[in-house]
Amino acid sequence: MLSYRHAFHAGNHADVLKHCVVVHLLRYLAQKDKAFWYIDTHAGAGAYALHEGYAQKRLEFETGIARLWERTDLPAPLADYVDAVRALNPDGELRFYPGSPYLAWQTLREQDRMRLFEMHTTEIDVLRSNFRDAGRRAIIAGGDGFEAIKALLPPPPRRALTLIDPSYEDKRDYARTLGCVQECLKRFATGVYAIWYPQVTRPEAQRFPAQLKRLRQDRWLHVALSVGTVPKDGLGLYGSGMFVLNPPYTLTAALHETLPWLVDALGVDRQARFVLEVGGD
Ligand SMILES: C[S@@+](CC[C@H](N)C(=O)[O-])C[C@H]1O[C@@H](n2cnc3c(N)ncnc32)[C@H](O)[C@@H]1O
Repeated sequence: MLSYRHAFHAGNHADVLKHCVVVHLLRYLAQKDKAFWYIDTHAGAGAYALHEGYAQKRLEFETGIARLWERTDLPAPLADYVDAVRALNPDGELRFYPGSPYLAWQTLREQDRMRLFEMHTTEIDVLRSNFRDAGRRAIIAGGDGFEAIKALLPPPPRRALTLIDPSYEDKRDYARTLGCVQECLKRFATGVYAIWYPQVTRPEAQRFPAQLKRLRQDRWLHVALSVGTVPKDGLGLYGSGMFVLNPPYTLTAALHETLPWLVDALGVDRQARFVLEVGGD
């Protein structure tokens, strides 16, 4: 029984990092006319209300998107991401937050396709409702995204961004993610893969970045943003990371421009910091 609801966390500091990277990757793929696929193994609900419901319980968006909303000095990659959030909030007030499927949908052209997986029975209903007018370019399926993705690879256009974004509330998600990436690479080694992970104190999470880096010798990028001190009680998310396989050459420079700014804007104490590493360097 799945209890995780992304609506509690929508727009928090971890979503800012993840979605800034995802927007950059999508825009890069859309620069060429040739079609691409966007695959989301853990899609969530697609879009979230911030002014009511679950998001109001913990106000996590105040640790993330709300801190960027009024800023006029955003580095270009963050400005692209905030513009994508503004598309859902045309009157200028921050009330809605796009999940990864909605960010992708904004970028997709006529020739592109989106494949979304979501296992939570309520979340998938909301996801389906959010994309009810999308037509056949967006196919949404219930069930286990770790398993289902195998049947999609390689995608017909041989160009794709796959986001693997579990909640990791179940500690087996760490091993399942590693296994899933290995399977994906066997089927489609040249695809772009973006894997999100949380910075929390549990041992599986602490080991995870090193395990991701061992998946391949080169053509990977690892970025992490810690917003503060590791909590002494061991509870809570103090940062997050993204591991990107086959990153476009533009991503490193975009993150160099963005991360010091994000540490300043989202950091809560002097332990706020970032990591940016590129495999093969
Ligand atoms: C972190 S949220 C996804 C957020 C979304 N990718 C975004 O960035 O907007 C993780 C989602 O995965 C779903 N989930 C958990 N296990 C799953 C599985 N094995 N296959 C597909 N979805 C799963 C959860 O119900 C939850 O909605």
